[in-house]
Amino acid sequence: MTKDKIYIIGNWKSNKNRQEVKDWFAFIATQDFSKAMPENLTIVVCPPFTYLSLSRVLIAEGKLTLNLGGQDVSPFKEGAYTGEVSASMIKEYADFCIIGHSERRKNFAENDDLLAEKVKRAKETGLKIIFCVQDENTFVPPGVDIIAYEPIWAIGSGKPDTPENANKVIGAIKQRHQAKVVIYGGSVSPDNILSFVSMEHIDGVLPGGASLDPVKFAQMISQCKK
Ligand code: PGA
Repeated sequence: MTKDKIYIIGNWKSNKNRQEVKDWFAFIATQDFSKAMPENLTIVVCPPFTYLSLSRVLIAEGKLTLNLGGQDVSPFKEGAYTGEVSASMIKEYADFCIIGHSERRKNFAENDDLLAEKVKRAKETGLKIIFCVQDENTFVPPGVDIIAYEPIWAIGSGKPDTPENANKVIGAIKQRHQAKVVIYGGSVSPDNILSFVSMEHIDGVLPGGASLDPVKFAQMISQCKK
């Protein structure tokens, strides 16, 4: 694997308890790459908000070369918005933030206007934004850093898109949105990760289920090392 830059962004979704978070980082800390990540790799882990602080401590204690990300962000600045986590709160622990995941669009009725506000808040704070889209026709607000192509039918189904089609769609996304970094998500696993990242236009992956298991996550990283 010789690609210059590959992003592997693990999305834990609404999973894990405190002990499982500790166990995940403890396993990752046993891996060679955890303290000296090959230059071609950027690894981001996106735990639930309640574990960002703990994750940050575990990364610091283990001197791990992992980045943290939030899975969502409030469209508001801090204030009287019960239940919301603002961009500046996330930025205290993390450098990245996922916005517009299809599960949020579907289960929380997030629309283009709301997502544009979320992107603004994240941008003001300096968070790097990973913005999820269905295809090249999905609206992308200005200021997004990474676009993730995630076809709904491929998410959690064990039936990923073909690398060839993902490459085609991602090529179209790059052209339409003048995007530099576009990754693929949807049933990515240690078995198929190389078939995606070896494609011309695909700059990385966004695994959900496979990122929960530290063994699988480590296997995915090892395979993409230069
Ligand atoms: P999956 O999830 O890898 O479990 O399909 C990907 C995602 O929803 O980001």
